[in-house]
Amino acid sequence: MAKIVIATDKPFAAVAVKGIREVAETAGFELALLEKYTEKAQLLEAVTDADAVIIRSDKIDAEVFAAAKQLKIVVRAGAGYDNVDLEAATAHNVCVMNTPGQNSNAVAELVFGMLVFGARNFFNGTSGIELKGKRLGILAYGNVGRNVARIAKGFGMEVYAYDAFFPAEAIEKEGVKAVKSAADLFKTCQIISLHIPATAETKGSINFELLNFLPKGGIVINTARKEVIDESALAKALSERPDLKYLTDIRPDIHADLTANYPDRYFSTPKKTGAQTAEANINAGIAAAEQIVDFLKNGNERFRVN
Ligand code: 3PG
Repeated sequence: MAKIVIATDKPFAAVAVKGIREVAETAGFELALLEKYTEKAQLLEAVTDADAVIIRSDKIDAEVFAAAKQLKIVVRAGAGYDNVDLEAATAHNVCVMNTPGQNSNAVAELVFGMLVFGARNFFNGTSGIELKGKRLGILAYGNVGRNVARIAKGFGMEVYAYDAFFPAEAIEKEGVKAVKSAADLFKTCQIISLHIPATAETKGSINFELLNFLPKGGIVINTARKEVIDESALAKALSERPDLKYLTDIRPDIHADLTANYPDRYFSTPKKTGAQTAEANINAGIAAAEQIVDFLKNGNERFRVN
């Protein structure tokens, strides 16, 4: 009997695990669960006899692939797969997939939770700003960016976007103004929401020049990846521009410094929370299980990323 292992440091909601188990067992597969593990050795042990593994932001490197002798497929239940060593996967003949779009509404809703919190001065009772009529710049118009645009329209915001790969005409068709570069987006919009993946090109790409382009009272929200922002540039921008705020769902390495220096302009969630809803867990977890079943039974490689 083929074995599927859920290996999630940050657990899915129990209802999602139940749904994944149903999909696996209905297909005649065994399901094992490793949650909240504290040592890599536990992960290495859990994957030794796994045919398939479902992960979230869990780091799957060459050592994991070497330990997982029977492994055929890893599905990242979520969008970003920068935590998986794709070269090592391919070298071990393992298929890697993600589940695009399944958790994007959850992340987009958190953007607005954080944005209202920031716009109202972290609920400290002082006079804040409203979102209505403000320009929101969405950097990367993928599944999350599109959901952010939809919700922003409900707030009465003017929505702009830049995406290096998605055609401007397609963005404009959705009632969003497309600009020609990230620089134009930062120059135009007081509020910026980051949705770029962490790649060789994007890591550190949110630099001082971009941050300093922000109009007065600029707010940057990062629910994407820690690595996309140049942290020394961020520290410099917050120091030189007392009007700027940075709100993030991915705690930067300089969290302690930023908290100490800018308690009313910097906020980080304690743990990445964007995709942490029952709905997103169910959508992404069950999609992952179904993709595994379809791959192992029928060889379906849709959503393969390596
Ligand atoms: C993703 O890439 O899907 C999101 O960043 C969510 O990550 P998580 O599954 O670790 O919450």
